[in-house]
Amino acid sequence: GSVGKDGYRHYMEKELHEHPVVIGQTLQRLIDPATRRVRLPGLPFDLARVPRAVVTACGSAFYAGMIGRYWLERIAQIPVDIDVASEMRYRDPPLTPGGLGLLISQSGETADTLAALRGMRARGQHILSVLNVEQSTIARESDAVLGTVAGPEISVASTKAFTAQLSVLACLSIAVGRARDTLSAEGEEALVGSLLDLPGRAGEIFDLAPAIREMAAVIAGARDVLYLGRGACFPVALEGALKLKEVSYIHAEAYAAGEMKHGPISLIDRTVPVVASVPSGRLFEKTVSNLQEARARGGRLLVFTDTRGAERLRGLAEIVVAVPTVDEFTAPILQTIPVQMLAYEVALLKGTDVDQPRNLAKSVTVE
Ligand code: G6P
Repeated sequence: GSVGKDGYRHYMEKELHEHPVVIGQTLQRLIDPATRRVRLPGLPFDLARVPRAVVTACGSAFYAGMIGRYWLERIAQIPVDIDVASEMRYRDPPLTPGGLGLLISQSGETADTLAALRGMRARGQHILSVLNVEQSTIARESDAVLGTVAGPEISVASTKAFTAQLSVLACLSIAVGRARDTLSAEGEEALVGSLLDLPGRAGEIFDLAPAIREMAAVIAGARDVLYLGRGACFPVALEGALKLKEVSYIHAEAYAAGEMKHGPISLIDRTVPVVASVPSGRLFEKTVSNLQEARARGGRLLVFTDTRGAERLRGLAEIVVAVPTVDEFTAPILQTIPVQMLAYEVALLKGTDVDQPRNLAKSVTVE
């Protein structure tokens, strides 16, 4: 049936507000409520015997895959290669049969992702797809599908499908870690606990809309914006920059915060706002010192952090948005929501066609 906007101005706004529910529904499918253990549906191959993973996708789904790589490496200690599907399909990577070919797609119809899948299959990989549309071409050509329970996503720019993909990839990383014995039962309990905490914490983020609107007012007047993040929040920066480009038509570039000194720092002045995703944790101080470098060049800092990191950043940044503090593992999931909200608020100020941006398609079935 047709999907309405439920009183929201745009599908993008409605779908942003669905993040908490979608994360919850997706986790519910993969976590046994009684044991609080990850329980994937039966796979036709043994995760314990998978020596490495190759991840591929396009657009936002690719950035979800990048976050998945950090988790798979860290939690499951498994080597991961990743590339956008339009590159992967022509790379001819040497792959030992029996590896994991991991595809991520909202629609399940993206032509490049499908072509990359076929290349991986030809090289003997087990094909596991993370899909929102479970009746799709990619689904039919996969050995197994893990569903993102995001419901129909109408807005061309993806929002809720992204956090649903992350929820699946988080559970997959836990399952691979348990299978390979790189994650203990207690370790699993802690990670699952922080995942189950997410829907509630995500719901609190919408209270931060006024501060996000202040950020949007700064960005709406800019021609270029630089997004920064480190570790699993580098892909969050990439997602933020992509979303801004897609819906507001403002040029944005995302950089790994530590790499800024090798180039983009030369661009920074009062006219180039710097948006950073900096939750507390291992990489916090490193990223703060990168922000100090940007500040010293006159950059206007608009910073997403958590309640634990907020105090340290208030003296430095022009605007600080602090989401609830959560485990380092789940922080990138929470950090994604406000950067997507920011892009939406900028689009409103610019008066663009938010749900149907020019030149973009929801599903790209041509090469
Ligand atoms: C298009 C959409 C993006 C999406 C990408 C990949 O470019 O506009 O929002 O991330 O395709 O789509 P998929 O359906 O494979 O996730």
